Amino acid sequence: MERESRASFGGRLSAILVAAGSAVGLGNIWRFPYIAGENGGGAFLIIYIGCILLLGIPVLLAEFTVGRHTHLNSVGAYRSLSKRWSFLGYNSVISSLLILGFYFVVAGWTLEYFSTSVTGVIAEYSSSEINAARFAEFTTTPLRPVIYTVLFALLTHVVIALGVQKGIERSSKLMMPILFVMLIALAVRSMTMPGGIEGLRFFFEPDFSKVTAKTFLDAMGQAFFSLSIGLGCMITYSSYFNNKTNLQNTAFNVVALDTLVAVLAGLVIFPAVFSVGIEPTSGPSLVFVTLPSIFNTMTFGPFWSALFFLLLILAALTSTISLHEVLTAYLHEERGLSRKKAAWVVTIGTSLLACASSLSLGVWSEFKIFGLNIFDSLDFVTANILLPLGGLLTSVFAGWVLDRKILRAEISDHGRLKCRLFGLLVVLLRYICPVLLLWIFLYNLGLFEL
Ligand code: TRP
Repeated sequence: MERESRASFGGRLSAILVAAGSAVGLGNIWRFPYIAGENGGGAFLIIYIGCILLLGIPVLLAEFTVGRHTHLNSVGAYRSLSKRWSFLGYNSVISSLLILGFYFVVAGWTLEYFSTSVTGVIAEYSSSEINAARFAEFTTTPLRPVIYTVLFALLTHVVIALGVQKGIERSSKLMMPILFVMLIALAVRSMTMPGGIEGLRFFFEPDFSKVTAKTFLDAMGQAFFSLSIGLGCMITYSSYFNNKTNLQNTAFNVVALDTLVAVLAGLVIFPAVFSVGIEPTSGPSLVFVTLPSIFNTMTFGPFWSALFFLLLILAALTSTISLHEVLTAYLHEERGLSRKKAAWVVTIGTSLLACASSLSLGVWSEFKIFGLNIFDSLDFVTANILLPLGGLLTSVFAGWVLDRKILRAEISDHGRLKCRLFGLLVVLLRYICPVLLLWIFLYNLGLFEL
C-alpha cells in the first residue's frame, strides 16, 4: 500500500528521533516535575513508570500499526481500515487544534524567558516573590505574550513548510541530541549545588504515605500527554515510516527516551529546588517562577537560564511540529489543499485560537466557557476529556476491531521479527488498557469521587 509519491523518513534513527521529538516536550520538562512534586516524588515515579509500561507501550504500538499500515493521515487511516471508526481520526484533528490553542501560549512564554535571560533582565528576578509577580504580570498583559505566541506558531510553520523530510526529519535529528547534552549539563550543575542531595532523596526515595488513588490517575494522564498518544499524532508520524522501520524497537526507544528526559528534568529541578529552599509542590509555575531565582544563585546565572529556556523552546518546538503536522496532513490529503496552503491555514487558525487563549488570561478573563477561561477550558477539554477518550478508543479499536493479522504483520514486520510478547500485547489492548482508561475518563468527568 506504499505510495510512491508520499514522503517518508530516512533510516531507523530518523523514525526514533522524530517520534521522540514529538513525545519530548513541555510535558516532560515543565509538567512532569511539578506533577511528581505534588505527588510526593519517588512513589509517583514508580507508578508513572508502571503506567508507561502498561498503557504507554501498547497504545503507542497500536498507533504505529495504524499509521504505518495505511501510510495515511489520521482521518484517512481510520477511514481506510473501518468507515465506522473514521470519527476517531476527526477526534485527532480537533484535539490537535485545541492542544495547539494553549500549547503555543506556554511555548511563547519560553521565548519570553529565553529573551529575558539573554538580555540579563532575568538577573533582577532575585526572589521567588518577585518572580511570581513578574510571571503574573507578563502572562496577563495583552500584547507581549500574544506576540510570542504568534512567533512560536510562525517558528513551527517554517519547519512544517520545509516539508516532511527537510523540515521535520532534519530538525529532529539536530535538536534531539542538543537537548540531551543540555539536560545532562544542567542536571550535573543542579546536583552539585549545596543541599542538592535532599532533592535526589525526594525524587528517588518512595514515600508511599503520599500516594492516594489520585496519584495513579495523575500518573496515567501524565503518561498519555507525555508520550503524545491518544490523539493520532503518532499515527500521522508513523505514516511516514518506511516499511523497514522496526516498530517494536522504535516504540521501546521512544518510551525510553521520553522517560529519560522526564527523569533528567527531575534531576535538574528537584536538587535545585531543595538547595534554595522552595516547595516542590508549588505547581504549574514551578519552571517559570522558581527556576529563574535558582539560576540567579548560580555563577553565570543568566547563561544557565538562557540554556535552560532554549532547551524548553526546542523541546516544545518538536512537539508543536507534530501537532501541526496532524492538521496539515489532514488538510493536504483529505481536503485537497496544497501542502503550502494547508500549512498556512493551520498556522493562521491555530494562532488565532492561541491568541484568544492568551488574552483570556488577562483582558478577556471575564469570558468563560463552563466557568473556565478559554486557556483553561482548552487545557481541560483536551487533557481531561479528549485524550483519555482517544486512548480508550484506540486500544478498543486495535484490540477488538482491527484485523489481528494486520496487527501481527506490522508488529512482527511481516514475520521478520520475533514477537514473543504478542499475546500479552493483545491482552493489554483488549482488556487492561480499556479498563484502566475508562477509570481515568469517568474520574475526569467527575462521575465519581475518590
Ligand atoms: N508529548 C508532548 C509533550 O510532552 C505534547 C504533545 C505533542 C502531545 N503531541 C501530542 C500530547 C499529542 C498529546 C497528544 O509536551
